[in-house]
Amino acid sequence: MYSIPQQQTFLEETKEILQSPDRFSSPVLATKLKDIINFADWTYYVNDNPLIADQEYDRLFSLLKQLERDHPQLITADSPTQRIAKGLTKEFATVSHLVPMLSLENSYNADDLIEWDRKCKELSQQSNIEYCVEPKYDGAGISLIYENNILARGATRGDGVQGDDITLNTKQIRSIPLKSMLSQFHIEQIEIRGEVMLTKKAFQLYNEKMVAEGLAPLANPRNAASGSLRIKDAHEVAKRGLDAFLYHISNMGIQEGQPFPAAFQTHYGGLKALDSLGFKTPVSNMRVHANIQEVIATCHEFEANRDHMPYEIDGMVVKVNNIALQEIMGQTSHHPRWAIAFKFKARQGTSRLLQIEYQVGRTGSITPVAKIEPVYIGGVTISSISLFNEEVIREKQLKIGDAILVERAGDVIPYIVKSFPELRTGMESDIVFPTHCPVCHEALYKPATEAVWRCTHINCEAQVIERIIHFASKDAMDIRGLGDALVRRFFEQKFIQGIADIYHLPFDKMIGMEGFGEKSMSNLQAAIEKSKTQPLHRLLFGLGIRYVGENTAKALARSISHIHDLYDKTLEDLKNIDDVGEKVAASIVEFFSHPDTRLLISQLALAGVNLENTQKSETNLGALQGKTFLFTGTMNMKRSDAEALVESKGGKLLSGVSSKLNYLVVGEDAGSKLDKAKKLGSVHILSEEEFLVFVNSELQ
Ligand code: IVH
Repeated sequence: MYSIPQQQTFLEETKEILQSPDRFSSPVLATKLKDIINFADWTYYVNDNPLIADQEYDRLFSLLKQLERDHPQLITADSPTQRIAKGLTKEFATVSHLVPMLSLENSYNADDLIEWDRKCKELSQQSNIEYCVEPKYDGAGISLIYENNILARGATRGDGVQGDDITLNTKQIRSIPLKSMLSQFHIEQIEIRGEVMLTKKAFQLYNEKMVAEGLAPLANPRNAASGSLRIKDAHEVAKRGLDAFLYHISNMGIQEGQPFPAAFQTHYGGLKALDSLGFKTPVSNMRVHANIQEVIATCHEFEANRDHMPYEIDGMVVKVNNIALQEIMGQTSHHPRWAIAFKFKARQGTSRLLQIEYQVGRTGSITPVAKIEPVYIGGVTISSISLFNEEVIREKQLKIGDAILVERAGDVIPYIVKSFPELRTGMESDIVFPTHCPVCHEALYKPATEAVWRCTHINCEAQVIERIIHFASKDAMDIRGLGDALVRRFFEQKFIQGIADIYHLPFDKMIGMEGFGEKSMSNLQAAIEKSKTQPLHRLLFGLGIRYVGENTAKALARSISHIHDLYDKTLEDLKNIDDVGEKVAASIVEFFSHPDTRLLISQLALAGVNLENTQKSETNLGALQGKTFLFTGTMNMKRSDAEALVESKGGKLLSGVSSKLNYLVVGEDAGSKLDKAKKLGSVHILSEEEFLVFVNSELQ
């Protein structure tokens, strides 16, 4: 919605304000800050191309908060501070939709669509109809009302006639604008329908966090979205990383005496206009077709590519493009006659629950894993499904021997939708959750607030092995070659009994070990040697402190010069570090006060492992702030060195090519990533030399 010159102006104003905010009067400053922050939200959440650094954003936000604290009369409904939740919602008020929220008729194949096209033509008395095709998002329906350019209400679908007022929760979704210049089109009031979603990635991250905290994960992105919208603590809603696509204008009030805006005479035109006004719409994934055969081809094309979408889509929606024609065709009490859903083939299959295995994790968590009769769903054979915790088993009322329905939602891990109790034969047996650790036989323990049972025996063999595997893993100390299987073998043969033993492997005794030749031995030796110089944050992550993920480990490492500094840190000290809350801080204090930890750290020191933060020099830090990089192809420089250089200057690394990527650095034989970046057109492509010149010039 913002033109390039406008974006330039915003960036210049951002600089000006950050340099000397005092030179503006309070009302002017408030307006500028609101506009700039709303713009920054759009660049980040809608346009997928952030232009200002996180720190700059945070400073602008805190300036605005301070200003509004000093001058409460400057607070307006479109102020980004109004997205911040205050207190809990007790009960959601019931509100009526301006127009009932209908459902859609379904179609499943080309013939269904051809028949629908015939009916459309008959109804409208047209021989040719233009159709729009767009993704059918698998999330939770919402309705938004804007009055005089301001978001006035957000509501759930409810029963289609009435829903819950979730205005505060919708404000947590940053891609939903609080203000939009609808008046440019003479629109006084508008009701817009859309779908609230979680990206597959956000869903996965959220669930990983839940599981790490011992809480029950959510079943699939769809349930996650609808559940999230109805949370009474808006703070919690904000944490879910929700997004919204807006795909239908259900009601529009035009300013008196003004004409109906021409852009809104077609579905495509209307959404394009909304897009230009800062809304997130399906337009970039939308096609307009002159006949049903083209529509069918598009539906099939998207079905084949559904796994490549960042969101879960369960089909396509075909709509008559011309709004006047839509009105002529009308609706039934259930669905409009001018639209139809084309449902993709369900990725579900039936199977049988054979048994439950209990896995012991690095932190002693006991994870029940369902072993099922192998079932082939959408290209993958599934024979094992994590059930996360006891609660999930109880909730689904599973029994061993049950017939079950399994779903694989895109890239998301498969899950058991339900069992079929009606098919039971009487031969099924109850699932009895163990009371003792299946490996060390210690009694299991579960705090009342958690969902996960744990083995608290810190030296339980299973936990020790998992901790060693984690320590050596790619994102931790990155000891190539020392993977899951080898750690288990070394443990069995008593070569390794704890983390520190990695540095005292008896290589002489290992000669002749099956499948472990001279070459792999010297490679392993070199990898172990190299791990001694890994940066401190990798060690902190590798130690497997509960709740300390990679980002927290980085923040922790930045705050200290030597690992010993953590021995004396109090809860309060730790809570001052970014990313560290009460629970994380308590876990860190407990970990470093434990004699076993201190023993391990002195053993690592003796072995020559780096315990210092050698990157503490702050010079030039952040020259690449806000910029994203990806390396591909064979490079002269070591890939890990190039990546470390980017990170040390505040840049971010991405794992794939997307519109979020700013720079793709290509070595020799770059393949599909380069093609994709070229296709996108928004990614700067650099050779290795250009990258080095660029980084150096950025550092001045
Ligand atoms: S149009 C009056 N477009 O699918 C027409 N719906 O199964 C309103 N949905 O209730 C619906 N993506 O919640 C429309 N691109 C899209 C959609 C979409 C997802 C949802 C919507 C609807 C449900 C029907």
